[in-house]
Amino acid sequence: MAPTLPERDREVCWHPYTQHALDTEPLAVIGAKGAWLELADGTQRLDAIASWWANLHGHARPELLAAMHAQAAQLDHILFAGFTHEPAVLLAEQLLEIAPAPLSKVFYSDNGSTAVEVALKAAYQTWVRRGEPARTVFLALEGAYHGDTFGAMAVGEPKPFFAEFSPFLFHVVLVPPTAAALEEALADLAGRVAGFIFEPLVQGAAGMRFHSVDFLRDARRICDAHNIFLIADEVMTGFGRTGSLFACDQAGIGPDLMCLAKGLTGGIFPLAATLVSEEIYAAFLAEERAKAFFHGHTFSGHPIGCAVALASLKILRAENTPRKLQHIGHEMERALAPARALPQVKEVRRCGGIVAVELHQNTLENGYLAAVGESLRKACRAHPRVLLRPLGPVLYAMPPSCVTDEECHLIGTAMLELVEAQPDF
Ligand SMILES: Cc1ncc(COP(=O)(O)O)c(C=O)c1O
Repeated sequence: MAPTLPERDREVCWHPYTQHALDTEPLAVIGAKGAWLELADGTQRLDAIASWWANLHGHARPELLAAMHAQAAQLDHILFAGFTHEPAVLLAEQLLEIAPAPLSKVFYSDNGSTAVEVALKAAYQTWVRRGEPARTVFLALEGAYHGDTFGAMAVGEPKPFFAEFSPFLFHVVLVPPTAAALEEALADLAGRVAGFIFEPLVQGAAGMRFHSVDFLRDARRICDAHNIFLIADEVMTGFGRTGSLFACDQAGIGPDLMCLAKGLTGGIFPLAATLVSEEIYAAFLAEERAKAFFHGHTFSGHPIGCAVALASLKILRAENTPRKLQHIGHEMERALAPARALPQVKEVRRCGGIVAVELHQNTLENGYLAAVGESLRKACRAHPRVLLRPLGPVLYAMPPSCVTDEECHLIGTAMLELVEAQPDF
């Protein structure tokens, strides 16, 4: 008999964030439409995690596919160093129109981690250009996740993912999301800090951990007072996930640098953007070529990605995607509400279109590796209707904006059942 797809996969593929000694059987997906994935075994699962927090409007959305197709036929790819094209310029114009001030230039790359690398490099090198190269420290939040490249790892929480790389990672001070902690760190590090990077409102990989809108305002005020850059990583929170277009909008603040990826193209094409203030862009302008920002990727500003992003923004405006996601969040939360009374449950929370149930843990290990997470992961994997993937002891959902009220109910009740079936740790 011919080998199955998972069997062939096992011979040749190495998957991200996968312990192959334990997880031997990836789910084979053969198609996707709207919020539903079609599996090779003939079953269908509701994509309640939006394919790693990316899918915004649903799979196979005709407008996005048409934009992709038309752009591929017109101009499939061109380098962005010394060249330009209509989709990249139009997208930059539109992004700057909707992004909070004082952002004024768009630097393209192709994934969230590279958007973060660009932000960190541009922020630090601006200090170098200003004659302050000793500002080598970044502040970030405890539990932070900004991606897996070296700079992004450096500003992330070391445990459990990055600790073994510590000999290679630059100096970062992690603080809890409070004004006092930020002030204290800055007082200790006077004159040595380049900037503060954070995921505004929702720290995704930390387990959908939320902080207050007030903290965003505090962060802006404190960074201003200490004259350091505020970097908002809106890779996950951008494009409506938190109920507003950008999380920063809820606080009425604008960062000096903002990282976008995932939902930028509706979540279906790898494209990222780092938006920067004019002040940062201007720091690299000089008659000397050597003062340029020496960073770029083969697929920076990919024409197809930009065309799809423009089509996605059009849908977002026409449908008011942030409002849709907010409604979806409420519907899921309603179905999930009884979980609050379960002995296994520590907290049920919601922000915009994201709901999360945090379970009590039975281990002192970092949350992501908690035993309850392992048992939850197995149960999710086996769920016949809804695709969920816990972050340690936190079960969450963040579906695309096309889900119906009924589908929200299905997600909420699936989460409830999965949690109820867990042993009371
Ligand atoms: C807040 C945040 N920043 C950056 C990244 C990295 O993005 P990518 O996986 O596209 O490199 C992620 C990915 O989950 C993220 O959630």
